[in-house]
Amino acid sequence: MESLKFSINSERLPKHIAIIMDGNGRWAKGQGQDRLFGHYHGVESVRLAVEASAELGIGYLTLYAFSTENWERPEREVNGLMELLVDTIRKEVPTLNKNNIRLHVIGNTEMLPEKTMTVLEEAISETAGNTGLNLIMALSYSSRWEMGEAARQLGLDVKAGKLDPETIDQYSFQKYLCTRNFPDPELMIRTSGEHRISNFLLYQLAYAELFFTPVLWPDFRKENLYEAILDFQTRERRFGKTSEQLG
Ligand code: IPE
Ligand code: IPE
Ligand code: MG
Repeated sequence: MESLKFSINSERLPKHIAIIMDGNGRWAKGQGQDRLFGHYHGVESVRLAVEASAELGIGYLTLYAFSTENWERPEREVNGLMELLVDTIRKEVPTLNKNNIRLHVIGNTEMLPEKTMTVLEEAISETAGNTGLNLIMALSYSSRWEMGEAARQLGLDVKAGKLDPETIDQYSFQKYLCTRNFPDPELMIRTSGEHRISNFLLYQLAYAELFFTPVLWPDFRKENLYEAILDFQTRERRFGKTSEQLG
């Protein structure tokens, strides 16, 4: 069968795609395996989603890899995930550079183990000169953490006399979010059949088109991404206006 890729209108690509990569545990369980087995297999799906986005010319891809709530999982799983993360990032830096991909991280990274942080910082600085796809890993991220942190920083700036509280509006508030340098996602994909946001980019998803697929993350392939983009391209994005106004 011909790839769905050829049906995509390259003039109407989402500038920013965000993905909640869910279902690794269930995928593993379905095969009588340990949850970590699912996480290991999820890495290949990450690779393919990144490669497909870069090939299409998508500007920004945000991947929800670990939430602040995920710290509550069994220690073995958390440690396994952190090791997988370090390993994968270390191995993938040459490929990121080859494909002109710039790595960013959003989240409460202070909670990450030191080794993970070091490897991440190295990868971020080694890819900082790349000008193609911006790959944003949401690690130890949650939207409520981000907004609480934004409020704290904003308060500190008011206290220090750097910000006049009378001038605060949504635009100045946005500058305190960790996504301040990225446009809002236009397409949000969640795998594994769950229909929820799970504390992901609550502010930024205000007008995103949502796409839910039953596919479990380790089974996610390029065609699944193309399918989501094609679905996005059928949506009428009104931003509160009427159809007639869009012209
Ligand atoms: C997503 O898969 C990966 C992370 C949250 C780290 P899960 O581990 O949540 O897999 P399920 O949802 O239990 O199947
Ligand atoms: C959301 O998945 C977080 C990531 C994919 C990293 P979860 O599996 O943690 O979400 P819930 O608990 O099902 O809402
Ligand atoms: Mg899950």
